Amino acid sequence: MTDFRIQLTRPDDWHLHVRDGQMLESVVPDSARQFARAIIMPNLKPPVATVVQALEYRKRILMALPEGSEFQPLMTLYLTEQTTPEEIRAAADSGHIHAVKYYPAGATTNAASGVGDIRRVFPVLEQMQQHGLPLLMHGEVTDPEVDVFDREAVFIERELDMLVQEFPGLPMVLEHITTRAAVEYVQDGPDKLAATVTAHHLLLNRNAIFQGGLRPHHYCLPLLKREQHRQALVGAVTSGNARFFLGTDSAPHPRGAKESDCGCAGIYTARNALELYAEVFDEAGALDRLEAFAAFHGPDFYGMPRNSGTIELERTEAEIPETVDFGGQVGVPFRAGGRTRWRLVG
Ligand code: NCD
Ligand code: ZN
Repeated sequence: MTDFRIQLTRPDDWHLHVRDGQMLESVVPDSARQFARAIIMPNLKPPVATVVQALEYRKRILMALPEGSEFQPLMTLYLTEQTTPEEIRAAADSGHIHAVKYYPAGATTNAASGVGDIRRVFPVLEQMQQHGLPLLMHGEVTDPEVDVFDREAVFIERELDMLVQEFPGLPMVLEHITTRAAVEYVQDGPDKLAATVTAHHLLLNRNAIFQGGLRPHHYCLPLLKREQHRQALVGAVTSGNARFFLGTDSAPHPRGAKESDCGCAGIYTARNALELYAEVFDEAGALDRLEAFAAFHGPDFYGMPRNSGTIELERTEAEIPETVDFGGQVGVPFRAGGRTRWRLVG
C-alpha cells in the first residue's frame, strides 16, 4: 500500500516554539510547509511579555518565512507577575495576540520569569476573561516534593480545578497533556477547557527515555509517561472529542544543549509533525478522525475560521535525517536516522 493517499484541510499547530535569530530562520520553514497557522510560544530570553515585543517578534517570524508562504504566526504573551490588566487590553486590541501563556515559575525551559503564585495575577485573568483571551497553561506544579512524573496530575488538583471555578468564562488550554488524569479532566470538564496533545506523547512512553541508555532526545517537559497514559492520550485524540487538538510543542535545542550533563528539555518534531500524527491515527484505525483533530477543533475553540486550503498525505516511508541545521548549529530531529510511515506530498 504505497500510494494510499488522504487529503485534509490544511491544519494548524496550536503550540510551537520557533526561537529567534538564526535558529528561527532554520526551523520556521518546517512548520510553514505543513501548517497554515501556529500559536507561537513566548519563552524567549528575555520573554515576550509585552504587546510591543510580541509584534516585533511576529515581524521577525514573517521575515523568516520562505518566499510565497502564507503561514501566520499567532502570537502569545508570556504571563509574569508584572503583567498588567492594561497590557491585556492592549493585547486583545492588537489583533495579533491570541493567548497568554502561564508558566509556573521554573517549570520548564525559560520559565524563570513565570508566575510564582497564580493568585497574584487574578486581576489579569479577570481582564482576559472579559476579552475572551485564552490562558494557555504549562500544567505542572514545580513543588520539589512532588514526584516529577506526578506534576501534571497534582497541577490539576491544586490549581486547575480552582482556576476553572474562579474563572468559568475564561477559555483555557491545558497544554501538551500527558496523563489519563488530564484526559479525564478535560473530556468531562468545563465547557471552556481544552487540551493540546503532542505527537511525541502519542508515540512514546517513558521507556523511550532509557532505551539502551540515557536518551536525551526523548527528554521533554512534561516528561513522557507510562504506556497506560499514552494509550489514554491516543483514545482521547481519536475519540473525535472537540476539546482535544493538535499542538506539537516542537522545541528545538542545539545538540550540545541536549547531550549535556544538564540537558535541556524539548523535542524537535516540527520537521515531520503531521506525518507522525498520521501514523498514530492510522495505527488506531482512526484516520477519518485526523482532520478534525488537526484542522477543525483548534480554530473552533479559538473562534477563528477553519483553513480553506488542503494538504495531502501518502502512506509511504520517508527517511528522517540524523541531523538538521539549527542556524549553523547541529540539531537532532525526532526519530533521527529513522523513517516516517507517512509522507506529506508536495
Ligand atoms: C519547551 C522549550 O524547550 O521551550 N520544552 C519542552 O520540553 N517542551 C518548553 C515547554 O513547552 O515546556
Ligand atoms: Zn512548549
